[in-house]
Amino acid sequence: MALPMTMELEDIRRHWQNWAVSFGKDLRATTKGQTAKMIEIAAIGRVVDMARTALARPLRILEVGCGNGFNCSWVAQTHADCHVTGIDYIPEMIEAAKQRQAEDGIDTSRLTYLVGNALELDNLTEQFDVIFTDRCLINLNSWGLQERAYRRMASLLGDGAFLATIENSLEARERQSQLRTAMNLSDRPIDKFNTFIADSRFEQLARDLGLSVVTTQNISTLHDLLLYVLLPMINGGTVDYEHPLIEAAARLNIALTGDLGLDMGPIGQNRLVVCQRVKRF
Ligand SMILES: C[S@@+](CC[C@H](N)C(=O)[O-])C[C@H]1O[C@@H](n2cnc3c(N)ncnc32)[C@H](O)[C@@H]1O
Repeated sequence: MALPMTMELEDIRRHWQNWAVSFGKDLRATTKGQTAKMIEIAAIGRVVDMARTALARPLRILEVGCGNGFNCSWVAQTHADCHVTGIDYIPEMIEAAKQRQAEDGIDTSRLTYLVGNALELDNLTEQFDVIFTDRCLINLNSWGLQERAYRRMASLLGDGAFLATIENSLEARERQSQLRTAMNLSDRPIDKFNTFIADSRFEQLARDLGLSVVTTQNISTLHDLLLYVLLPMINGGTVDYEHPLIEAAARLNIALTGDLGLDMGPIGQNRLVVCQRVKRF
C-alpha cells in the first residue's frame, strides 16, 4: 500500500479552522460518522468509569484536542461529580464548544474550555485523574510530534491517574485495505491531515514513562468492517454512513467491546489504549 502524503502542520491547523468555521458545533466539524462517535463516547465512558472505580473520588478530567466539545459535554452531563477541561488549538472550535456548553446548561464550575496546543499544554498547571484524546494525535504529522504530545499529557497525570488515547491504528487500517483489495474494492485513501499510529507505540512509550498499560481495545472492528468492506461489496463500493445497519453494528460493537469484553481484532480503525500512572509511595 502506498504511504499517504501528509499535510504540513500549518495546513492541518487551517483545515480544522475551516471545519470549525463551516460546521460550528455540528458533529460534522470533527467527524463524518455519527455512529463512530457513538462508539467513541462509549469507550470514553468506560475509561471514566474505570477511573472512578479505581480512584473513588470526583475526577478531574482533561480532553486534549476537544474540538467543538461533543465528548466533554457528554462526560460532564453523564458524570455529574466530575470536573472536565477541554483544550483545542482552534479558537473557533472552543467558541463552538462554549456555545454547546451554554445550550446544555453546564456550569463553568464543572466544564472549562481553553485554547492551547497539544504540543505545549503550558497553560495547564494542575494535575488530572483522567486525560484522554480522541483522534487528536493523528493530526500531528510525525511520531516524534505525537510522542512529544503524549509526554506532555503524561506529565500532567496525578498518582493513579489514567491516560487514554483513542487514535487510528496503522496496522488495522492496512488489514482493512487488504480485505478491500481481496474483495475487489479500491484502496480508500487516508485523509491527508491524518498520520495513523503503529500499534505498539503508545504501549512502549507508556512503559518508558513509567506508566502501566491497563487495556488496549480495538473498539470499532465490527462497525468498520460493515461500513468500509461489507456494505461497499454489495452497493457498488459506496461508503454509506447513513445505512441503517451501520447504527445497529455500532450498538452491537459497543456491547461486544464493552459489556462482553470481546475484542474483535485489529481491523477497525479506532484503537483505545488506556495507561495508568502507578501510585508512588
Ligand atoms: C478529529 S477532531 C476530534 C475532536 C474531538 N476529540 C472529538 O472527538 O469530537 C481533532 C481535533 O484535534 C484538534 N487538534 C489537532 N491538532 C491539535 C493540536 N496540536 N493541539 C490541540 N488541538 C489539536 C483539532 O483542532 C480538532 O478539533
